[in-house]
Amino acid sequence: MRIAQGGKVNLKPLGQVDINQVLDIERETFGDYAWDAEMFRAFDNLPSREILVGFLTKDSSPCCYLGLYRSQRTVEIITIVVEDLCRNQGIGTELVSRVEVSMLHTRRRVAHAIISETNELGCEFFKSLGYQSRIVHIEDVMSDEDDVTDSIEFYKNIHTEPHNRIGRYYQDDLKNFRV
Ligand SMILES: CC(C)(COP(=O)(O)OP(=O)(O)OC[C@H]1O[C@@H](n2cnc3c(N)ncnc32)[C@H](O)[C@@H]1OP(=O)(O)O)[C@@H](O)C(=O)NCCC(=O)NCCS
Repeated sequence: MRIAQGGKVNLKPLGQVDINQVLDIERETFGDYAWDAEMFRAFDNLPSREILVGFLTKDSSPCCYLGLYRSQRTVEIITIVVEDLCRNQGIGTELVSRVEVSMLHTRRRVAHAIISETNELGCEFFKSLGYQSRIVHIEDVMSDEDDVTDSIEFYKNIHTEPHNRIGRYYQDDLKNFRV
């Protein structure tokens, strides 16, 4: 088990040197549905999209990452993954809170994430952070058939008053706090 030291992580944009570790975590987490290197690069190169990787202070290899899409008024958390060995130590909570805090300096007021209804862990996670939910139907464009899967959109209006689980992050120096 990697000890997360209270969930504190350093974040930086995905670099070439981190990609192999990110791919390992991705494959371990999503198996056949894992993104490959080309998909990560393609996503990262699209406008308003970004992959950020997180490091525990003592480590040189990333333990987590998240993919974001920033539109004018919203931030969508496209993917958020914490390495298996580091889960349940508050890292996921910190990643989401960093996104939310960064939004306070902008006109973006809704954070959201679409999670497959079969991903119980992902759903529990966003629920625990005070996100509201609604069912959405997503067409599977990769399938030849008319597959429609039920997913759950988790969303939260970002105000200056945070959900109490992540309140402590909001009290940090907001001026210098950037995701
Ligand atoms: C979802 C995920 C990012 C959470 O990261 P994490 O660092 O473990 O999250 P935290 O430690 O901050 O936990 C926050 C809350 O999530 C919930 N949670 C975390 N692990 C859980 C588990 N195994 N079972 C049920 N709830 C769980 C709990 O409510 C927890 O709050 P608590 O500690 O007060 O009980 C991580 O489990 C993960 O990478 N999962 C696989 C990828 C994934 O499904 N991502 C979401 C869709 S892209």
